[in-house]
Amino acid sequence: MNDSVSTAPPDTTASQSEARKSMAVPLRFRLNHDDVEIHVQDPTTPLLDVLRHDLGLTGTKSGCAIGYCGACTVIVDGAAVPSCLKMVGLLEGSDVRTIEDLEGPGGLDPVQDGFVARAGLQCGFCTPGHVMALRALLDDDPDPGEEDIKRTVDGNYCRCTGYVKILDSAREAVALQKAAGKEER
Ligand code: FES
Ligand code: FES
Repeated sequence: MNDSVSTAPPDTTASQSEARKSMAVPLRFRLNHDDVEIHVQDPTTPLLDVLRHDLGLTGTKSGCAIGYCGACTVIVDGAAVPSCLKMVGLLEGSDVRTIEDLEGPGGLDPVQDGFVARAGLQCGFCTPGHVMALRALLDDDPDPGEEDIKRTVDGNYCRCTGYVKILDSAREAVALQKAAGKEER
């Protein structure tokens, strides 16, 4: 458990818990379309740690923790960002989306469908980062070109080293997104 977010250990009394909470800074932001309020004792704590350890959203993966590998990519205010570099104290009023947000009542997100259709994973560790980066790309531009797709995939490091299926999956995701867009019209 990350000690920068106020939570009560099992044997802590309610008054002790309240005292700890009062020393922490309240933070309110949108997380996967819900309003959340957390209390942080260290505003420089990486968003990645808060997501995984305090909020239980373990779909976001931790790789390098220095902003290099892209495994921890989430979408903040519409942009794909490495959550290991995003200080949680900067999130007041922000809109945060994680991989847990993508599957809706109608099924998987088109990007997820693209990865399923083209088997775009080996061990799968890098997949959430790829999916979120591509989701942000498609939110910004529903008809990206090959160079945009390659640049987005290039930003995420796959330890299993094979990018052929990942690129095929990204292209399939773009095609599925376009098809979904036409259906909506
Ligand atoms: S864990 Fe954040 S970029 Fe690698
Ligand atoms: S599929 Fe294993 S790290 Fe990319």
